[in-house]
Amino acid sequence: DMGGHDTFMHKEISEQPDAVDRVLRGRIDDRFSTVHLGGLNLDPREARTIRRIKILGCGTSYHAGLIGAGLIESLARIPADAEPASEFRYRNPVVDPDTLYIAVSQSGETYDVLAAVQELKRKGARVLGVVNVVGSAIAREADGGVYVHAGPEVCVVSTKCFTNTVTAFALLALHLGRIRDLSVTDGKRIIEGLRKLPAQIEEILKGEDEIKRLAEVYAGAQSMMFIGRVRGYPVALEASLKLKEISYIHAEAYPASELKHGPLALIEPALPTVAIVPDDDLLEKNRAALEEIKARSGRILAVAHQPQEKADHTIVVPKNEDELDPILMGIPLQLFAYHTALAMGRDIDKPRNLAKSVTVE
Ligand code: F6R
Repeated sequence: DMGGHDTFMHKEISEQPDAVDRVLRGRIDDRFSTVHLGGLNLDPREARTIRRIKILGCGTSYHAGLIGAGLIESLARIPADAEPASEFRYRNPVVDPDTLYIAVSQSGETYDVLAAVQELKRKGARVLGVVNVVGSAIAREADGGVYVHAGPEVCVVSTKCFTNTVTAFALLALHLGRIRDLSVTDGKRIIEGLRKLPAQIEEILKGEDEIKRLAEVYAGAQSMMFIGRVRGYPVALEASLKLKEISYIHAEAYPASELKHGPLALIEPALPTVAIVPDDDLLEKNRAALEEIKARSGRILAVAHQPQEKADHTIVVPKNEDELDPILMGIPLQLFAYHTALAMGRDIDKPRNLAKSVTVE
């Protein structure tokens, strides 16, 4: 049942305020400025001994893991990174007892992720799951974890589950941070930011008509570049994946800082750039990248907290805490990909060559 929407993708994008509300519900502890995660199965003493965190997932879940790693590093100060589970499995990784492994999956059935979890467990590692489908194979195989509570996702491409997974990582990062060195004040600041998310997502969704208009402007492009820096880079990766999956427009994502090391050669009026430009400590750096693109006559669509002078168009999103901004900045670009694909007459819920869960090698 599409509940009045034309596609499941549109329904699922629209459900995000409620979905995010669900992942937060019952977990926030105002008294100690932390969160409770019932199924984590990790006591504070164990949590303090973790020296590294390695996050594994595929596709959109890998991108959510990249943002998750950033959240864990900034809030819990534990070195963390994310890697595609499929790559990890095949490179005979060094499995280290002081590393906590986290498997991320919407379906909980993705074979590459499941196989990585099984291999890690065979080697004695501790593995948590950040999973949407309750009781799925990866959820059962993991030692504990956080359910994402996005609700059923029918469209082949992931939207609400991405947003909820990133929010679940913010909860986990806050939880680990408050066991370690995150102050009560910072804990409160993050909790206040988390509570603002559903209303801010609602506000972004209200801008759909304008985003649709912009999508129609850019729908003729053969190829698009997506750029971001640090927290914004995984947002660019995910937005680029969404666009290519459903519109079949070629898109690639680069860290804005890497432009001058090669991809700047591609910039010309026919290759528009979507730039993630949060109002944080990297704002001036990001503006410099916009200037470099403009100097080569590249067209720019910015996603930012205030209109960008160098951009041809800006989608303005509400500001949250710097750490939580990536949760919001991807949402207008889901709508952008959606309306681009719609303008091109694509089969949005079932893009060619793709399946909802990849349970084979
Ligand atoms: C992209 C998409 C895929 C999945 C990937 C992992 O929109 O949906 O990239 O994210 O196949 O699937 P899960 O999260 O079920 O393990």
